[in-house]
Amino acid sequence: MSILKKLALAAGIATALSSAAMAADMTVGFSQIGSESGWRAAETSVTKQQAESRGINLKFADAQQKQENQIKAIRGFIAQGVDAILVAPVVATGWEDVLSEAKEAKIPVVLLDRGIDGPQDLYLTSVASDQVKEGKVAGDWLVGTVKDKDCRVVELQGTVGSTPAINRKKGFEEAIAGHSNISIVRSQTGDFTRSKGKEVMEGFLKAENGGKNICAVYAHNDDMAVGAIQAIKDAGLKPGTDILVVSIDGVPDLFSAMAAGEANATVELTPNMAGPAFDALAAYKKDGTVPPKFIITESKLYTPADDPKGEAERRKSLGY
Ligand code: AHR
Repeated sequence: MSILKKLALAAGIATALSSAAMAADMTVGFSQIGSESGWRAAETSVTKQQAESRGINLKFADAQQKQENQIKAIRGFIAQGVDAILVAPVVATGWEDVLSEAKEAKIPVVLLDRGIDGPQDLYLTSVASDQVKEGKVAGDWLVGTVKDKDCRVVELQGTVGSTPAINRKKGFEEAIAGHSNISIVRSQTGDFTRSKGKEVMEGFLKAENGGKNICAVYAHNDDMAVGAIQAIKDAGLKPGTDILVVSIDGVPDLFSAMAAGEANATVELTPNMAGPAFDALAAYKKDGTVPPKFIITESKLYTPADDPKGEAERRKSLGY
């Protein structure tokens, strides 16, 4: 190895070590939404693992789906003088006051997995997927699968007012626009939960000739899709065959349903939002490096051709 290469390697190792040391000195508050879905549970567990492996002191607050609890938790973190705050905002609006207080206290805020409406200078960076793209990937899959066949779609939306619900709807609609054989005939929120997904799907099935008039269900997350699958089976139809099932997240239960022929496609959302967030915070604390405003995670489509049984197994240690 040349001297130059050795020096570059040593410098790289020194930077990595000192970033890790910076991270180790940090106390970070995390205002999590709750535990509405398997994906959310995995995000919580991966965030705790990431903090532990970097020696970060993580203060965790579960808001039980309520924005007011998130605001209270953030105010608590500010009062304790934490070094940084992570927040997964349950809805898009209503954050200006509390995030201005964090800014005033010079505490950097990182948004995880969902966005907010409002000035971008209220947060250091946002680590999330491109949610419009996720909806588009799901919609493109349906367009490519049904081709010219007429397809009446029912949609299970996420939490009202949340950016994934708004954007995943938008992306899917963009994908099917111009394909007059495909239309969304019913659309309602299932609040990202399995039980609500099942309940709303039962209503859709009743209203659509016992499900005979439905060609596909598009769910904004896998948990609602898993609930819908149960409702379809209870109605005496075959999910994945009589009614196509496409959703977003990539949780093990959905992969298991896919392996059983009961689900057709999912768009993966990584639960590791905290890794990139902690990297950005460590660099920012070390020498003021400002990260990109949006750190975008990958949105990969999985179908039964992608070893769903293996995918379910591979994710089991992640806390889903
Ligand atoms: O914000 C990400 C979404 O929130 C996930 O897709 C969903 O499962 C969760 O509740």
